[in-house]
Amino acid sequence: MDNFQALIASARVTLFASRNQGGIAFDPARDMPSLAGKVILVTGGAGDLGKQVAIEFARHKPARIYIADLPRDDGGASVINAVRDAVADEHAPISYLDIDLSSFESIKTAAAKFRAAEDRLDIAVLNAGIMRVRPGTTAEGYEITFGINYLGHALLMKLLMPTLLRTAKLPGVDVRVVAVSSEGHNLAPKGGILFDKLKGPCEDIKFYQRYGQSKVAVIGLARELAQRHPQIKVVAVHPGRIITGMALGLRKESLLFRATAPMSPLFCVSPAIGVRNHLWAATAPDVESGKYYEPVGVPDKETAVANDPSLSRRLWEWTEKELNGIELE
Ligand SMILES: NC(=O)c1ccc[n+]([C@@H]2O[C@H](COP(=O)([O-])OP(=O)(O)OC[C@H]3O[C@@H](n4cnc5c(N)ncnc54)[C@H](OP(=O)(O)O)[C@@H]3O)[C@@H](O)[C@H]2O)c1
Repeated sequence: MDNFQALIASARVTLFASRNQGGIAFDPARDMPSLAGKVILVTGGAGDLGKQVAIEFARHKPARIYIADLPRDDGGASVINAVRDAVADEHAPISYLDIDLSSFESIKTAAAKFRAAEDRLDIAVLNAGIMRVRPGTTAEGYEITFGINYLGHALLMKLLMPTLLRTAKLPGVDVRVVAVSSEGHNLAPKGGILFDKLKGPCEDIKFYQRYGQSKVAVIGLARELAQRHPQIKVVAVHPGRIITGMALGLRKESLLFRATAPMSPLFCVSPAIGVRNHLWAATAPDVESGKYYEPVGVPDKETAVANDPSLSRRLWEWTEKELNGIELE
């Protein structure tokens, strides 16, 4: 079996040069510090990578983990139990926070609930995301992929920034925001972000361009937040290629992806490996704020357009205008 797996791994690297390879060695069990006292929030925490991130955090005993994801019929109990089972701790301090990143009202409600329950936020992982979905819009009329992957997270950060900054004033803290982007940001349309098309379903733009644009914006968000708030670390990461709910969605929508599914083990890794960049960025000492890392610990692989400070500045200004007046009472 080991030989077989080694053969698969080397075939993967030889044939596909997966960007999962070549990062620094990082083993969460060995290299993550104790998280005692920390409060952590993971968006998309019920999804495949988000749940694995929550599991790895839970192994290091934080004060509380908030799994922030779409409302579930069971109130998130099965997700919480899955994390508790994985760490063999039936009392692991995990809460489920309902949030729909496609609705400003839902984001406000979630942020208000979080702020009512907690005085501090040490680590926020902006991990929720969608890739191949039918064209559509958010509650406020933004293109759905951009609205969820970028704008919803930008609003969440605006509403939780006071808590992050208050936490940063406490002694001995290390406050982080990890924004999950993707190597798919390479697929963004020319210019990176089509500012005049961020509202409406954008049926004329291919799904991978909509996804790429949203992930360019996520890199820009990390850079702009890092510049404005030097007292915390904010970075963007690419997790690698992993078969998750997102890939299954791709298969549902695409014959090509269904046909190539048997080959996917050649160029994908497990969620346990896929979350290493999230975890490294959330905890390692040598993380540099404002950077994009792909794969683990390797900076500066973003495209020229994603690295363009005038684009992220323009995005920041556009975002401030769109989110103007949205505050918690
Ligand atoms: N898998 C990869 O190969 C890969 C590669 C590069 C980057 N990424 C990034 O990694 C992140 C995690 O994705 P994943 O691979 O773990 O996919 P996943 O299993 O589909 O997880 C995504 C999570 O986001 C949630 N979500 C979707 N719409 C939402 C909304 N409106 N509000 C709040 N949460 C919402 C999903 O909830 P539901 O399940 O209820 O829809 C799901 O729990 C994404 O940002 C993705 O772009 C993944």
